[in-house]
Amino acid sequence: MALVTGGTGGIGKETARALAERGASVVVAGIDRERGLRAVQDLKESAGHDRVHAVSADVTRLDGLRRLAEAVRERHDRLDVLVNNVGVNPPGRTLTADGVERMFAAHVLAPFTLTHLLLPLLERAPARASSTSPAASPAAPSTPATCWASAATSAGRSATTTTPRR
Ligand SMILES: NC(=O)c1ccc[n+]([C@@H]2O[C@H](COP(=O)([O-])OP(=O)(O)OC[C@H]3O[C@@H](n4cnc5c(N)ncnc54)[C@H](OP(=O)(O)O)[C@@H]3O)[C@@H](O)[C@H]2O)c1
Repeated sequence: MALVTGGTGGIGKETARALAERGASVVVAGIDRERGLRAVQDLKESAGHDRVHAVSADVTRLDGLRRLAEAVRERHDRLDVLVNNVGVNPPGRTLTADGVERMFAAHVLAPFTLTHLLLPLLERAPARASSTSPAASPAAPSTPATCWASAATSAGRSATTTTPRR
């Protein structure tokens, strides 16, 4: 079972498609509900099975992360793959509803918090947690975003950080 944040569009959706086509049950998370429903339909057709679901949640907000984790826990008792994919690039310094700088919230707090909230499910599987966030780039090895990966690895889990090239 796999969860892809930002899985209703862009790189996340193609990641979700590849996982679903290989037979995985997939949950994709995005903000826009309609876009989520359209992505589910598209991914189901590609995969040839119905085990694709969407959750609408803003991962730059703590309540959104909690709602997403709860929705996954309600439906699944283990998580094999977690792809923390959401990235944001606001034109200037903006704050989330929680009062946190938006890029920091999306690239650092969200991967860390979601991985932490879902750790009980990850621990039930030989799980892999991955991040496509720029803050998790190997070029920035000492950022907090890589710390969660190290923590997951030292807990016996597989963790990778990936930065797609432009
Ligand atoms: N594209 C590149 O060339 C590139 C290069 C280097 C790194 N990256 C990184 O790769 C990742 C994906 O990039 P991308 O270009 O595929 O991104 P994208 O097209 O902007 O991703 C859109 C997806 O993210 C969701 N999303 C955006 N903000 C969200 C939020 N606050 N909460 C929940 N979902 C949210 C969108 O949902 P809605 O449509 O519902 O808003 C949609 O599913 C990012 O971390 C990005 O920084 C991309």
